[in-house]
Formats: sequence, C-alpha cells, structure tokens
Amino acid sequence: MNFRIEPIADKVFGAVVSDVALATIDNATFDELYQTFLEFGFLVFPEQFLSEQQNIEFAQRFGELEFGALPLANQRRSDNGEFTQIIDVDTQRMRTNIGNEAWHTDSTYWPVSSKCALLSAVKVPKQGGQTELADMRAGYATLPDELRERAEALSAFHSTEYSQANDLGDFPQRDKNSIYHGEAYLRPLVKTHPETGVKNLFIGRHAFGIPGLSRDESGQLLKLLLDHVVSEPRRVYRHEWREGDLLLWDNRSLLHRACAYDYSEPRVLIGSRVKGDEDSELAYYPDDPRAVIGRQELQHELNILRSERA
Ligand SMILES: [Fe+2]
Repeated sequence: MNFRIEPIADKVFGAVVSDVALATIDNATFDELYQTFLEFGFLVFPEQFLSEQQNIEFAQRFGELEFGALPLANQRRSDNGEFTQIIDVDTQRMRTNIGNEAWHTDSTYWPVSSKCALLSAVKVPKQGGQTELADMRAGYATLPDELRERAEALSAFHSTEYSQANDLGDFPQRDKNSIYHGEAYLRPLVKTHPETGVKNLFIGRHAFGIPGLSRDESGQLLKLLLDHVVSEPRRVYRHEWREGDLLLWDNRSLLHRACAYDYSEPRVLIGSRVKGDEDSELAYYPDDPRAVIGRQELQHELNILRSERA
C-alpha cells in the first residue's frame, strides 16, 4: 500500500487514511484508494488542505461531477474570494443547510442519485458543526428477517420539497431548475451496491409515500428502518472537523447529516459531489410516464403537510 489505513475504532465502517497527498496522487495509488473507499464506505484524510481546484480534480477521478468545489458555508464569498459576511439563518440557503441536519443520502431527489461526495474543511466552528455518517449496509444486514423481507419488496418516493416541509415546515418556492422542482422519484428501499454487490437500505429524510401502504404505515416503516440503522453506535460515526480535513463517503450505501452549531460562527466546507451511474442510480427522468405519479404523490403529501401546519 502506498498509504496508511487505520480503521475507525469500534465502528463497522470507515477508515482514516494518512501518508498520502491527494493533490499529487498517481493512478496506481488512486486505484488502491478506490478499493479502500468501496470497502470502508467512508475515508477521512487529515491535513490535506486541498485548494478548490484540487478538490475538483480529486473528485473528478471518481466520475462526472454534479457540482465541484461548492461552498457549503454560512458565509458569503466577497469579491476578493474570502468568505466574510454571515448569511442570515432565515434565507433559503441556510434553511436548506439546516434541513441537511436530518439523515439523508445526496441527490435522491434528482433522476440520478449521487455516487459519492467529498468535503474539505476550510473554517470550523468551535463547537458543533460535525458531519455524521451511518452505515446502511450493516443496517440492512442486521434487520430482523421479517422486516428485511418486507423492505425488499417496497419502494419510496424521494423529494426535498417533501423533506423540507416535513422536517422544517418550509414550503420553498418551486422552480424546476432548483432542487425544489416538483418531482418525486421512486427508489427501492433496498439497494444492491453496483460495485461491491452488497445490499443496503436506501432511505433517509427525502423518502416518503411507499406505494401500497397507507400514509401512516409508510411513515412508520421508514422511521423504523432509519431508527434501526442509527440506533447502534457502531454503525454511526461523528466527524469532528479540523481545518484541512477531507472527508469522502459513498452516497450509495451511507447516510449522513450535518450537526447543528452556532450559526453566527463561520463554518465553511468546500464540497464536490459525484453523479451516480445511470445503470444503477437512475430512477427515471421527468418526461418518463412513471414521473406523473411521483408528481401527484408529492403534491398530495405537501397538501396534507400544509394543512397539518396551518
Ligand atoms: Fe448531504
């Protein structure tokens, strides 16, 4: 091995990788790292201090990007490139960030969900603001047989309009070019990882409306499955950020969430997100006849949530 791997103590997943410089890594080392990533589900690379361009270039080794070096920050960038002015917590941008404090996997509300994500820490608050990860592979493997068989047969719709409404009571302005686009994508509750062949649960805050179940049954089952995944400390890791860290995780098999912090204190993470493969991460596109029902189910669900909160 061209680097050092230290599995995270007392966890069923994750490793810290050191003695490697991601900015200048060669292809052979990347191939080894890639296998390590598949095996552990997430990797922590301390003290990398990647520039935004280096973050993008490393991310591109994993595939086509959804976005590269996007500031996931509570500060606006001023003309000189520095992050300065704190963004008001009532803005849509901060409400979206705060929504991500509930367990989710990225981009399940797009036709093609994400393959993996990378975050580089630039500014870290004194307290809170950690990133937590949870292993849906071990979550699936430890389900009671009856529940596992039940989950195998079911799917749920995914929408971030749903999750913002359900988690925060927010009903953001709909815009088809934003993440609040009015579509909901149906995805099976159990996913077979396209590269390892290992099965995992595939759930999170964006999931709702399991076809064939009542609204209550669906909500209860999704909650039961999520609670199962995160109830065992060995399946949950909390990353205490240090400036310069890079965190990489597999969105096909892990949940994650941000932890709350004092929003008046700067927190700047630079994120790149890699697109999933159409063969394994595509639900369908909005012009597909199957999209109609998702759109209707979302509208129906939002109407209920609105009336519940009126
Ligand atoms: Fe996320």
